[in-house]
Amino acid sequence: MIEFTVNGQAVSSAAEPDTPLLWILRDELGLKGTKFGCGIGSCGACTVHLGGVATRSCSIPLSAVSGRDITTIEGLDGKHPLQQAWIELQVPQCGYCQSGQIMQAATLIANNASPTDEEVVTHMNGNLCRCMAYTRIRKAVHRGAEIASEGEGS
Ligand code: FES
Ligand code: FES
Repeated sequence: MIEFTVNGQAVSSAAEPDTPLLWILRDELGLKGTKFGCGIGSCGACTVHLGGVATRSCSIPLSAVSGRDITTIEGLDGKHPLQQAWIELQVPQCGYCQSGQIMQAATLIANNASPTDEEVVTHMNGNLCRCMAYTRIRKAVHRGAEIASEGEGS
């Protein structure tokens, strides 16, 4: 039995230790916001935070998360500055890549209150969007950083 924390809740799994974390989140814990895209760590659709670091959950085995803290898109509660920005700028097209995009972006603005355009592009580079919503995603990352800063000042 492997024990860990997801969105602040203690959880455990008896799955095979080499089972990708993505399937534990989706199939055992019912957290369907984390998506399956490529399964080989190349698209970012499955991005979660592992100890605060953006991590591809399709490519990390259950055995590697023992005792660790994981946050999924559900853990952002719909109120994260990036989620506010995403709604304001109507970012998604089909929406499939978007939870991964937000989870990836969240680790940038957590450490950089005002990223440059280049920093946003570099940080988001591995998150693919088949609908090509890249311009809106980039703008929304900047807007999310702005909303986060406004929140800190209030
Ligand atoms: S499904 Fe994990 S990176 Fe594509
Ligand atoms: S919005 Fe469709 S894949 Fe990104």
